[in-house]
Amino acid sequence: MELYDTIFTRRSVRKYDMTPLDGAALAEIRAFLDTTTQLTGQNARFEIVGADRIKNAAAPHYILAYCAANDSAYANVGYVLQNADLHLQSLGFGSLWLGSAKPSEPEADYCIMLAFGKTDVPPRRDLRDFKRLPIGDISNADDAIAQAARLAPSAMNSQPWFFDFSDGNVSVNYAGRGVSKLLLRKKLSKIDLGIATRHVEVALLHEGRTVLAVTPKTDGRDFAVEVTYQ
Ligand SMILES: Cc1cc2nc3c(=O)[nH]c(=O)nc-3n(C[C@H](O)[C@H](O)[C@H](O)COP(=O)(O)O)c2cc1C
Repeated sequence: MELYDTIFTRRSVRKYDMTPLDGAALAEIRAFLDTTTQLTGQNARFEIVGADRIKNAAAPHYILAYCAANDSAYANVGYVLQNADLHLQSLGFGSLWLGSAKPSEPEADYCIMLAFGKTDVPPRRDLRDFKRLPIGDISNADDAIAQAARLAPSAMNSQPWFFDFSDGNVSVNYAGRGVSKLLLRKKLSKIDLGIATRHVEVALLHEGRTVLAVTPKTDGRDFAVEVTYQ
């Protein structure tokens, strides 16, 4: 299945078969991570580990993300790992973003993890299976790109974004609402913006567009990720 199609069927999977994947499958996932683009100016690192490295593990494998402690670096981790989330689910595996789980011995620059493995939890059948805000609340346009962005996963399903479309440009703006404003603003909401940015990019590529740059923008107060394309 294509990454674009997976946007419409993926889900958070919380029940795994603890049998590890074989070496070839893990090597393919590692190679996919190594060739996934990062946001302009960013350089996070990713490690695939087994259940033995995670407190109270409930999946056979985890991708641990490490980055600097700032908004752009957090958004970048979201942007990279959402490509992995879509890839894993396109292969028929389950995956789950985990902000609450902890590695047994976290390193200083540990950021977040994505659990994955075999599962018998079925993918979503169609749009009716998604719980998301109406498009008019989160976007100034209603087109295929906005529809794909709307389905992005976020911490506590907070959807802390507003998509601003203009000619050759999509700005994925931070827009905290309710609980996300209080609890998630610092790190998880910025990861969420990167996740939604990946959905924007995958949808643009699916439309045959050329993505020119994907760049985090901050002025110390507002934060956004800008996608330019032609
Ligand atoms: C950054 C991030 C952190 C998350 N942390 C957790 C978590 O700690 N535990 C959990 O069960 N789900 C977690 N989730 C999953 C979200 O609850 C889920 O993505 C959201 O409710 C939308 O559901 P869906 O992924 O099935 O579309 C997290 C998601 C994101 C994006």
